[in-house]
Amino acid sequence: MENLITKINSLKDAAILLLAEVKTLPELEAWQIRYLGRKGDLTALLRGVKDLSEAERPLLGQVGNVAKQALLEAYNAKQDQLNAGQNISGEAFDVTLPGTRPAIGHLHPFTLVTRQLEDLFSKMGFMVLDGPEVESEYYNFESLNVPADHPARDMQDTYYIKDKKNLVLRTQTSNQQVRAIQRFGAPLRVICPGRVFRCEATDASHDSTFYQLEGLVIGKDISVSNLIFTLKTMLRGIFKKDVNVRLRPGYFPFVEPGFEVDMTCLFCSGKGCSVCKRTGWVELVPAGLVHPEVLKAGGLDPKIWSGFAFGLGLSRLVMMKYGINDIRLLLESDLRFLQQF
Ligand code: PHE
Repeated sequence: MENLITKINSLKDAAILLLAEVKTLPELEAWQIRYLGRKGDLTALLRGVKDLSEAERPLLGQVGNVAKQALLEAYNAKQDQLNAGQNISGEAFDVTLPGTRPAIGHLHPFTLVTRQLEDLFSKMGFMVLDGPEVESEYYNFESLNVPADHPARDMQDTYYIKDKKNLVLRTQTSNQQVRAIQRFGAPLRVICPGRVFRCEATDASHDSTFYQLEGLVIGKDISVSNLIFTLKTMLRGIFKKDVNVRLRPGYFPFVEPGFEVDMTCLFCSGKGCSVCKRTGWVELVPAGLVHPEVLKAGGLDPKIWSGFAFGLGLSRLVMMKYGINDIRLLLESDLRFLQQF
């Protein structure tokens, strides 16, 4: 009996030692047949059970099972190892060689800043809305108090869609204003980030495609101070410090009164430098209180509801945040530029 146990154990040890020498799948198969097969060495030894007494059999069975289990596990591990080391043509390769580092993409600065703004405004209870880039003249202009013959259409050089009546590439994210009011009613807090298009000659600060982020708040007794508070909160979130703003009058047909909001120049902290043309201020965002005609187009009574809107130039904000001096870099897809973010 003891003799048999020793034999089983040394067979197991010998088999495992030999397994270390196995280099290919066919060799492994031969090993398997030799030690674990129906006519294999282990099976042969276990046949000796029948010559033992009733009392001895269970112990031997147990030793036999442990040995078999150990061999099976070693076999499986070896099989995995050999399979991992095979490529399609069946040649082995060295799995321990250092690999090639996968190229990791970068988020575009537009994406980074947009996500930051979406986060910030969501916390203030704003919805984030998306909308069509190919837009009807109605939502891009008419609903915003800019009828067809209105001179304000010339403020934005529009791309019209060929052979499609009344369709344009949206010139502003303001196209979302009346859409949002119609869809969600009042009170309302939304931001609409997105791409807009204008038929312009390009230079370092103009591109025919750029990004805006529209903000629209509608409620009862909404005033200019709500607008100022919201913009200052946004600036603190982006620049991580308090930034001052000032309002100058500005004209847009869909706001009344309308403003150009400036912020303290962050390059010189308001002392005056070349970036702010020695004024200490840089233009931040056009804004204003929502025009009664816009509220009406959305189906709201201007005697009950009021609101503010702003049209943040995301491209400009991105340039300020990262110190980029040419707007065209943003959409050129030059990896040398993109990999810096
Ligand atoms: N949509 C305007 C533009 O692109 C900006 C704006 C938005 C002005 C909202 C006022 C209110 O020029």
